[in-house]
Amino acid sequence: MNSVRIKIASPEDYLLVAKTGRDTFYETWKPVNTEEDLQLYMAKAFDPEKIREEIQDSAVNTFLLAMNGEEAIGYAKLRRDRTHTGIGDGSAIEIERIYAFKSHHGLGAGKSLMDECMRIASEENHRWIWLGVNIDNHRAIAFYKKYGFEIFGSKNFVLGNAVDEDFLMKREV
Ligand SMILES: CC(C)(COP(=O)(O)OP(=O)(O)OC[C@H]1O[C@@H](n2cnc3c(N)ncnc32)[C@H](O)[C@@H]1OP(=O)(O)O)[C@@H](O)C(=O)NCCC(=O)NCCS
Repeated sequence: MNSVRIKIASPEDYLLVAKTGRDTFYETWKPVNTEEDLQLYMAKAFDPEKIREEIQDSAVNTFLLAMNGEEAIGYAKLRRDRTHTGIGDGSAIEIERIYAFKSHHGLGAGKSLMDECMRIASEENHRWIWLGVNIDNHRAIAFYKKYGFEIFGSKNFVLGNAVDEDFLMKREV
């Protein structure tokens, strides 16, 4: 049974969001990146003060926490300030991140987070929802395809001193 509860993060949740973001990112990318590149990236991306400011900027960002009781087992971040050529006409919202802890993969956290992203996209009348995903992240690509996302392009993703490639994927809301 899926007992995951989705909580929209408020500014007081910033430490939990920063820790969940950092720990899931590290766990996911440690096997294929250098420690130096990971630390360089994470110091910026998951700086608690930066996360607090991002949560406060609620016109742009929404952070969703996937909760199992009092424990955060994953999270997602929606952004409203970026788009891409190739998406098409109409407003677009981005899933910048969607991560669950490995120990909880396959237990419904990803589905609950994705369902809430889709609900928000629909409620705000966006035409498109889009994201970037590492071209070698087959598990996530399959997950997005299951939800109707299609590849429409690619872009670079800078991780410390490394430059990786992301597929861009979109679907109509
Ligand atoms: C991608 C990710 C968020 C999916 O979350 P999850 O909690 O494992 O997925 P769920 O258990 O909620 O599965 C949701 C549905 O997708 C399906 N699914 C999950 N992974 C799948 C896969 N690799 N291929 C096809 N379908 C998949 C499940 O079967 C389920 O379908 P159902 O509801 O019909 O049973 C998770 O694997 C993850 O955090 N990966 C590491 C981080 C990452 O790579 N994030 C993306 C960065 S762009």
